[in-house]
Amino acid sequence: MRAVLVRAFGPTDQVEIGEIEAPLKLGTEVIVDVHAAGMNPIDYKTTIGKGAAKAVEPLLPWIPGGDMAGVVAEAPYEAHDVQPGDAVFGLVDHWRTRGSFAEQAAVPSLALAPKPESLSFEEAAAVPCAALTAWDAVVRIAKARAGQRILIHAGAGGVGHFAVQFAKYFGAHVAATASERNIDFVRGLGADEVVDYRKDRFEDVLQKVDVVVDLIGNVQDDTGSRSLDVLKHGGLYLNVPTGSWPDYAAATAARGLRASSVKVEPDGANLGIIGRLIDAGDVHVEVQQVYPLDRVHEAFETLQGGHVRGKLVISVR
Ligand SMILES: NC(=O)c1ccc[n+]([C@@H]2O[C@H](COP(=O)([O-])OP(=O)(O)OC[C@H]3O[C@@H](n4cnc5c(N)ncnc54)[C@H](OP(=O)(O)O)[C@@H]3O)[C@@H](O)[C@H]2O)c1
Repeated sequence: MRAVLVRAFGPTDQVEIGEIEAPLKLGTEVIVDVHAAGMNPIDYKTTIGKGAAKAVEPLLPWIPGGDMAGVVAEAPYEAHDVQPGDAVFGLVDHWRTRGSFAEQAAVPSLALAPKPESLSFEEAAAVPCAALTAWDAVVRIAKARAGQRILIHAGAGGVGHFAVQFAKYFGAHVAATASERNIDFVRGLGADEVVDYRKDRFEDVLQKVDVVVDLIGNVQDDTGSRSLDVLKHGGLYLNVPTGSWPDYAAATAARGLRASSVKVEPDGANLGIIGRLIDAGDVHVEVQQVYPLDRVHEAFETLQGGHVRGKLVISVR
């Protein structure tokens, strides 16, 4: 099958598009004919030798990509709920296996959900990792609800644009950070307040926040540390880019705040709920651009620029 191949960790312009053996199905895995694969920052982080590089090194040539949407080619067994021909979307456990930037992927059946009918394969492939991360942070951990004030950093990005919509859907008052060109976009997703992080310091504008969903951390402008200044006593700080602020636990505890990191789980049940919200018209999926597989280098370069609105997607077939 054709796939994006990382033969050695290094700059993303060195990844190859080549032939590799198709994945074998084990146990209750499903073989999916991948139509489209969504991109996430972890894909380039691992490709350049950070992220999950240590874990996938034995798999070189490794295939990047977690998100995918496609059609089931092989089911776990005859009477299983998932059957050949089903249109599905989900998250490949690409920390442990080869990923989804390929014509086929092996995916645990519990990581899959029916593709939302209202979405193309390209749009569906944009959803799993970003939306499941946003769901875990905003819905499962923060328990977004009316009366709660939530600040979401990077509200225009992949995770952020879902996080804003989920927080609003569950009734919270939503503030987000974005640059000027994305302010109307993030307001359109339902944010009550959008702070232009290049013009204003968010801690000068926002106060008494219950939850901060931090998608930046201390790798830019001390976003993590400064977030503690907007939280109420007992408020919750969620650090999503793991490694972006190693000291968040001690810093939050010293100020009487709660904190946690967040790590996405390939949860097909929650993905199915998200798919139903999408089909009901309650959640919008923003795809900035779809690239054919041959232009994956260009897609990687744009992703690494750090200013994608919504998602980038690779069209595989
Ligand atoms: N722990 C996990 O399981 C997990 C899961 C998913 C993602 N992550 C991590 O979470 C982070 C976000 O992921 P993502 O997919 O949402 O990334 P992304 O889509 O690449 O984020 C891009 C967005 O970030 C915004 N941005 C850049 N600098 C900003 C700043 N200083 N303040 C506010 N917004 C800023 C940009 O908006 P402007 O163009 O307006 O600046 C852009 O829309 C990444 O580090 C990713 O690796 C972790």
